Amino acid sequence: MIWSGLDTMVLTPICALIISKEAALLDLGISVEYGLEGRKRHYQEGVTVTMAGEIKYHIRLSSEMVEGATYAILPGDPGRVEKTARHIDPAGAKFLAANREYTSWLANLDGKKVLVCSTGIGGPSTSIAIEELASIGFKNFYRIGTTGVIQPGIKLPSIIITTGSVRLDGASTHYAPIEYPAVADYELTSALVEAAKAIDVEYHVGITASSDTFYPGQERYDTFSGYVPRRFQNTLQEWQKLHVLNYEMESATLLTMASCFGLRAGMVASAIVSRIDGETPNDEELKRAEENLAKVIRKALQIRLSRE
Ligand code: URA
Repeated sequence: MIWSGLDTMVLTPICALIISKEAALLDLGISVEYGLEGRKRHYQEGVTVTMAGEIKYHIRLSSEMVEGATYAILPGDPGRVEKTARHIDPAGAKFLAANREYTSWLANLDGKKVLVCSTGIGGPSTSIAIEELASIGFKNFYRIGTTGVIQPGIKLPSIIITTGSVRLDGASTHYAPIEYPAVADYELTSALVEAAKAIDVEYHVGITASSDTFYPGQERYDTFSGYVPRRFQNTLQEWQKLHVLNYEMESATLLTMASCFGLRAGMVASAIVSRIDGETPNDEELKRAEENLAKVIRKALQIRLSRE
């Protein structure tokens, strides 16, 4: 390409500006790359980071707002966020943001900040939360939820700690092929087990079936049509025979995404339904289930934060 004098006059200062900006970013440990589409992207340790102050579209949080927190606790229900944050930090928990299914509170535990952010129900909304939280600096995710157990002998309300999930969701397949495992992080999971032991609650550790739907995917026939498509017929029995412990709806997406991103995730739930005998706890037991879960996650966080 032949440069005209005018091009050179105009382009040289622009190039110098771009080069000096890139040098400044490199000083910060951030490298600059031009994507295939010619768009400029900023990378840190191989991952895209968001510039400080940028508020993410769905969760309405920026890296500045979370004050250096790297652990995010993820209930599905926005209504459980405040309670969880106040259990972690009774005196100082504070509201940060609420938009659609994403409500966030920030808590302090042993001098470190911890975020509690709801994901809504199911994989798609969970994937948005993980994407946006990861891009503002979160590296560790604990999902806390409720679950229906499918093995005999698991009492209600006990705690179920997931080591890996059967990927009955759709969202995780947008991140990795179905052969890729949805496994929990070893250290985050060990801390959950230690916490359950310390609090002295009944707990079970194993595989969870994580379904995009509450009804057909969990083989429920008490529905509008009463029909469960062939793909899911007799699957409850199959998962029982394969020693799956329980059903829930978000862990497949969370665990797959965290592994794909090189981040860490754990999953703990309190059992509120038994699919063996249709048992559901009474109000008193439900309250105990919620309290046990809150105690376990607080203790697990303390264990993890003390080792960071
Ligand atoms: N959550 C689920 O996904 N299934 C249940 O049975 C209970 C809670």
